[in-house]
Amino acid sequence: MDMREKQPYDSFRDGILALIGPNLIYSRVKYLGMQINEDYRGKEFVLVPVMLGGMVFCADLSRRLSIDAIIDPISINSYEGTQSTGKFRLLLDTQTDLAGKDVLVIEDIVDSGRSLVYLKEHLKKKGPRSIRVAALLSKPERRIVSVEADYTCFTVPDLFVVGYGLDYEGKYRNLPFVGVLDKEKL
Ligand code: IMP
Ligand code: MG
Repeated sequence: MDMREKQPYDSFRDGILALIGPNLIYSRVKYLGMQINEDYRGKEFVLVPVMLGGMVFCADLSRRLSIDAIIDPISINSYEGTQSTGKFRLLLDTQTDLAGKDVLVIEDIVDSGRSLVYLKEHLKKKGPRSIRVAALLSKPERRIVSVEADYTCFTVPDLFVVGYGLDYEGKYRNLPFVGVLDKEKL
């Protein structure tokens, strides 16, 4: 089947099966923007995108907002090793004084949940009034620690997904859709 004929948008690449197309992402992010406008009206609002995965989601979501928002990225890395230890290293920290502010962490995906636990603990030390999390995707089957985003756009099955910020070996972040990588076809 030639998917190119079936898809009215750019959601096809060899070796990648589109799971969530750009139109659906657009609608969901727009709706989330409306919700956040309501929930954060009148607050001292700071968006903290988790780089690099959260950048595309944050760029689109932030442009749906009619409230004032500071955007202050953060970046973490899990320690190198044969197994993911769940230990993290901070590569880039936020630059704004978060004390008393309402922080919304922007994540690409909540998988095991470990990076989210680390990030929340780290940001909590800065004394914000509140910390919530918006995640584009959630893979609940993979959860190791009990943590959930406050806002989740889509739940996905236990498959390795790329696009719209998510990468495989640094690639595919720029795809305008979320798709499943068929590593054998690459
Ligand atoms: P955690 O396991 O919830 O700590 O997720 C850590 C990070 O792994 C996420 O923020 C993503 O950057 C990355 N990740 C997890 N699942 C996927 C996936 O299916 N595709 C691409 N990156 C992923
Ligand atoms: Mg990430």
